[in-house]
Amino acid sequence: MQLTMARSLDHSIWSIVALLMVLLATTNAEVIDLRWDVKFDNTFRPSSFAQPVITINDEFPGPLINATTNDIVRVNVFNHLDEPLLFTWNGIQQRLNSWQDGVSGTNCAIKPNMNWTYAFVVKDQIGTFTYFPSTNYQKLAGGFGPIRVNNRIVINVPFAKPEAEFDLLIGDWFFADYKVIRSRLAASTEVPDMMLINGKAPYGYSGSKRYESVTVTKGKTYRFRVSNVGTTLSFNFRIQNHKMVVVETEGSYTNQTTLDSLDVHVGQSYSLLVTADQDDADYYIVATPKLLNTTGDSPLVAKGVLHYTKSGSSVTGSIPIGPNPWDIEFSVNQARSIRWNMTTGAARPNPQGTFNVSNVTLSQTIILHGSQTNIRGTYRYAVNNISYLTPDTPLKLADYYVNGSGVYRLGEFPTQSVKEAATYGVSVVNAMHKGWHEIIFQNDLVLMESWHLDGYGFYVVGFDDGEWTPGSRNTYNLYDPVVRSTVQVYPGGWTAVYVFLDNPGMWNLRSQHLKRWYLGEELYVRVHDDDPNPAKENPPPENLLLCGEILTPYGLNRDGDDNDGGSMTAMVVVHEHITPYC
Ligand SMILES: *[C@@H]1O[C@H](CO)[C@@H](O)[C@H](O)[C@H]1NC(C)=O
Ligand SMILES: *[C@@H]1O[C@H](CO)[C@@H](O)[C@H](O)[C@H]1NC(C)=O
Ligand SMILES: *[C@@H]1O[C@H](CO)[C@@H](O)[C@H](O)[C@H]1NC(C)=O
Ligand SMILES: *[C@@H]1O[C@H](CO)[C@@H](O)[C@H](O)[C@H]1NC(C)=O
Ligand SMILES: *[C@@H]1O[C@H](CO)[C@@H](O)[C@H](O)[C@H]1NC(C)=O
Ligand SMILES: *[C@@H]1O[C@H](CO)[C@@H](O)[C@H](O)[C@H]1NC(C)=O
Ligand SMILES: *[C@@H]1O[C@H](CO)[C@@H](O)[C@H](O)[C@H]1NC(C)=O
Ligand SMILES: *[C@@H]1O[C@H](CO)[C@@H](O)[C@H](O)[C@H]1NC(C)=O
Ligand SMILES: *[C@@H]1O[C@H](CO)[C@@H](O)[C@H](O)[C@H]1NC(C)=O
Repeated sequence: MQLTMARSLDHSIWSIVALLMVLLATTNAEVIDLRWDVKFDNTFRPSSFAQPVITINDEFPGPLINATTNDIVRVNVFNHLDEPLLFTWNGIQQRLNSWQDGVSGTNCAIKPNMNWTYAFVVKDQIGTFTYFPSTNYQKLAGGFGPIRVNNRIVINVPFAKPEAEFDLLIGDWFFADYKVIRSRLAASTEVPDMMLINGKAPYGYSGSKRYESVTVTKGKTYRFRVSNVGTTLSFNFRIQNHKMVVVETEGSYTNQTTLDSLDVHVGQSYSLLVTADQDDADYYIVATPKLLNTTGDSPLVAKGVLHYTKSGSSVTGSIPIGPNPWDIEFSVNQARSIRWNMTTGAARPNPQGTFNVSNVTLSQTIILHGSQTNIRGTYRYAVNNISYLTPDTPLKLADYYVNGSGVYRLGEFPTQSVKEAATYGVSVVNAMHKGWHEIIFQNDLVLMESWHLDGYGFYVVGFDDGEWTPGSRNTYNLYDPVVRSTVQVYPGGWTAVYVFLDNPGMWNLRSQHLKRWYLGEELYVRVHDDDPNPAKENPPPENLLLCGEILTPYGLNRDGDDNDGGSMTAMVVVHEHITPYC
C-alpha cells in the first residue's frame, strides 16, 4: 500500500497537467482549483447538543463549487477525519469518467491523514447540484455543499438575469453523534430531530441563536437554489406571502410554472425565481416535512427569514399554511406538472426537445422493488430482495483489471421481482451501451422513496399508485418529461423513467435515503463497451488509489496475506464499513 501511494503521488500531478492541456487546447474552459480540509468540528453544532459536525475549510455547509459548463474542477481533499472518506458529486455526470464518481463501487477511499485530488470536467451540463460524503454514514454529520453549473456565456438562460442567487441547502438533522446512530441502525426507528437551512436551526429555536436570513430588495427577482440535503424526510418549501416560479431542476430548464409551495425529496435540487413584491418587512421561509404531523414550533419545521433591506420589523404571524403533509395527490399532481421546456437550450445551443423520447425503442425494462427485509434475523433493505454488500474492491477497479473476477458476477441480479427470499449480494446490472432502458421503481414501503442514478439524467415519464403493469405505459408522458438524476417514488406506488445509456462506466443506482442506502438498497449499472478506444471511456487516472484485491495496477492480488476478499467475505467488509478506521 505504501508503494502504491508513493507511485500515485508521483504521477498525479502529471496526469492532471496532461488532462488540463488537452482540455484547455480544445475549449475555453476554466480550471477551478480547490483545496478542501475536511475535519470534525465539535463547536459547530446546530443545536445545543454536543456533536461532531463534518466541516470543509471550517465551513458547514461546505463551500460552493461555482462552475460553468465544461470547466475543469480539481478538488484536493485532505482527510483529517479518523476514518476513510469519499465525496460524491450528486448529479454531476462524470462523462466517460466513473473513476471520479466517489462512491464505494468506483473509488478506494481516501484514508485518514491522506489527501487525494479529484479531477473532472462538468461536461455538457448546467444546473443545481450538491456534493456529500458517500460512505460510512458521514452525510449524517454534514460535509455536504452546493454545486452550481452556470450556462456558458454564448447560451441564453430562459429567464432574465436575477439580482442575486442563494443556495438553500435544507435537510433533516439528528442530535446524536453519527457514529452512535450508525452503530444502532438496525435496532432503531428514530426520526430526525430538526430541519436545518444551510446548517442553521429554525428561527426562534431556543437552543440556538443562529438562523438563516436572506436579504432582498423590494422589486427585485432572485434565484433560490433549493436542495434537499437530508437523509430521511421530504419537505414542502414555501415563503410567506410570496409566489415562486420553478425554472430548473438538476440540470433541466423546466416549463416555468408559478407555485405557492414545492415538494422537494431527498437528494433533489430545484431553482426557483422569487420576486420581492411585498411590503418592506420580514417573511418566513419554511420547509415542513412530508408524511409527518408537525406544529409550527416543531424543530422539524425549518424556518429562515426573507429580510427586505428596508424592513423595520421581524417576522410576524404564524408560518404560512402549506398542503396537508399526507396529501399524496397534491404532491403527485405537482410532480406531473413539472415538465421540460422543450424549446430552450441548456448546456448546448440545441433545444432540450431535440431529445424526443416519444418514439424510442427500448432495449430493456428493469423493474426494481425497494423494500425492507430481514436476512437471517438482520434488519436490511433490498432491491428485488438482494441486499447490497460493499466488497472491499471497488467494482470499477475489478471490472477494469480483472473483468470482475472474484468481486462480482454478471447475470446474477434479477432485473424483475423474483419472489425469492432476500439474500445478500453484490448487485451489478450489465447494460447495453447506447441502449434505451426503461426503469420502473416500485416502492414496497409505506414511506417516501427517492432514487438516484449517477452518470446520467433520466426522463421521468410517469408516477402512479399500486403495482406497475405494461398497461401503465398508456399513462406515460412521453411528450415533455423532465430530465433529472433523482426521482421520488410515492408510498406503495411506482415511478417510471427512461434512460439512454451513452456513458460507459460503473454507475451507482441507489436510494437517497441514507439508512436504506447504507443497509443495502443500491446496485450498480455496468455500461460497457468492448472497444478499448479511450474516446469511449477514460482510462484510470494516474493517481488512482488501489485497495482490496487490486494492489498493483496490473490486476488481482492473489497472494497478498492481508487480502482474501471478494464477495464471500462481504459480511466482514460490511463490519469494516461500519467500524471506524484505525
Ligand atoms: C459564479 O460564476 C459566475 C460565472 O463566472 C459569476 O458570474 C458569478 O459571480 C459567480 N458567483 C459566485 C458566488 O462566485
Ligand atoms: C496531495 O496534496 C499535494 C499538495 O499539498 C499535491 O501535490 C498532491 O498531488 C496531492 N496528492 C494527491 C494524491 O492528490
Ligand atoms: C421556454 O424557453 C424559451 C426559450 O428560452 C422561453 O422563451 C420560454 O419563456 C420558456 N417557456 C416556458 C413556459 O417556460
Ligand atoms: C409548456 O409550455 C408551452 C409553451 O408555453 C405550452 O405550450 C405547454 O402547454 C406547456 N406544458 C405544460 C405541461 O405546462
Ligand atoms: C396526523 O394528523 C391528522 C389530522 O390531525 C390525523 O388524522 C392523523 O391521525 C395524524 N397522523 C399521525 C400519524 O399521527
Ligand atoms: C417513429 O417510429 C416509427 C417506427 O419505428 C418510424 O417510422 C418513425 O419515423 C419514427 N418517428 C420519429 C419522429 O422518429
Ligand atoms: C416527438 O416525436 C413525435 C413523433 O414520434 C411527435 O409527434 C412529437 O410532436 C415530437 N415532440 C416534439 C416536442 O417535437
Ligand atoms: C468478462 O466476463 C464476462 C462474464 O462476466 C464474459 O462474458 C467475458 O467474456 C469476459 N471477458 C474477458 C475479456 O474475459
Ligand atoms: C421478497 O421475498 C418475499 C418472501 O419470500 C416475497 O414475498 C417477495 O415477493 C419478494 N420480493 C421481491 C421483490 O422479489
